[in-house]
Amino acid sequence: MLRGTLLYLADQPALKRMFGGALARPLVRRFVAGETLADAMAAVGRLNAAGTTATLDYLGESVARAEAANKAALQYVAILHAIERQGARANASLKLTQLGLDVDRALCVRNVERLVVQAAQFGNFIRIDMEGSDYTQTTLEIFKELFARHKNVGVVIQAYLYRSEADIRELNAMGARVRLCKGAYSEPASIAFPDKADTDANFVKLMQLLLSEGVYPGIATHDERMIEATRSFAAREGILPDRFEFQMLYGVRRDLQAQLVREGYRMRVYVPYGGEWYPYLVRRLAERPANLLFFARGVLRERRHS
Ligand code: FDA
Repeated sequence: MLRGTLLYLADQPALKRMFGGALARPLVRRFVAGETLADAMAAVGRLNAAGTTATLDYLGESVARAEAANKAALQYVAILHAIERQGARANASLKLTQLGLDVDRALCVRNVERLVVQAAQFGNFIRIDMEGSDYTQTTLEIFKELFARHKNVGVVIQAYLYRSEADIRELNAMGARVRLCKGAYSEPASIAFPDKADTDANFVKLMQLLLSEGVYPGIATHDERMIEATRSFAAREGILPDRFEFQMLYGVRRDLQAQLVREGYRMRVYVPYGGEWYPYLVRRLAERPANLLFFARGVLRERRHS
């Protein structure tokens, strides 16, 4: 119920003004690396030094104008150059609606392909994030179109969707690189498991399919039970830790990130930055409403000091 309400709020940008601004700053800073690429690259430097790799996300989605999509594409070109210049162990994650999918499909494909080509020149990789279910089919179609021409691009599959097992089997057969996550949007029971326990069970099943048949999958979760299931399946099947990577979000379970690195697992941290943090932040609150307490404490602290 609370999750649904919060996810509804994520789609109401007008509320950003009310909810955002100075009062939310401590919470924003916890989950977002900063407003600028320089802030994000500094965070990547710290993560690399701690033994983790990173994926950079320039925050933004659902752009309605071609100019905004092209501007986002330019920012991603800058990301790829910054990674190369810094010698950082990092790649980039993007959303198709940020690169113009709602404006014009062909424009979006052009923008993303340009980035994939640029990444290939640097020996780097682009991950296409998965958005709400209105976009699942188109995202997979565009991914396949690009993957037919370039191999340094990957996609994301959400364990809460009923269709995901079939999608993973197809992607595995193609040799595509998949990030598996539970799924962050509000979806109807006609297409997604309404019960978390069923999503979790499906996550384990899909993780096993990816580890045994897929190409260097990313297992993206902070759930210790999912992580334990992955470790024990890999050990049982003799799958070495360099054949997959765990992935977590910036600012979430930093203790667990460090622990997995210490134990010799690969860990990639998703590093979002930019001014358009509102929908991203609200999805993080919906995943763990206890974060609202962190927010409330920040508000009280700011009030006391103002
Ligand atoms: P779950 O939500 O069950 O949480 C398990 C535990 O993890 C919690 O009990 C808590 O301890 C901790 N935790 C989880 N979220 C937290 C938070 N926000 N703050 C603090 N603690 C938290 N989704 C999507 O739809 N499309 C995508 O492309 C991506 N991409 C993506 C990349 C990466 C690297 C990650 C880690 C996640 C995504 N996601 C995503 C988000 C994903 O679908 C999911 O919403 C979150 O990862 C939360 O699910 P968990 O697997 O962590 O489990």
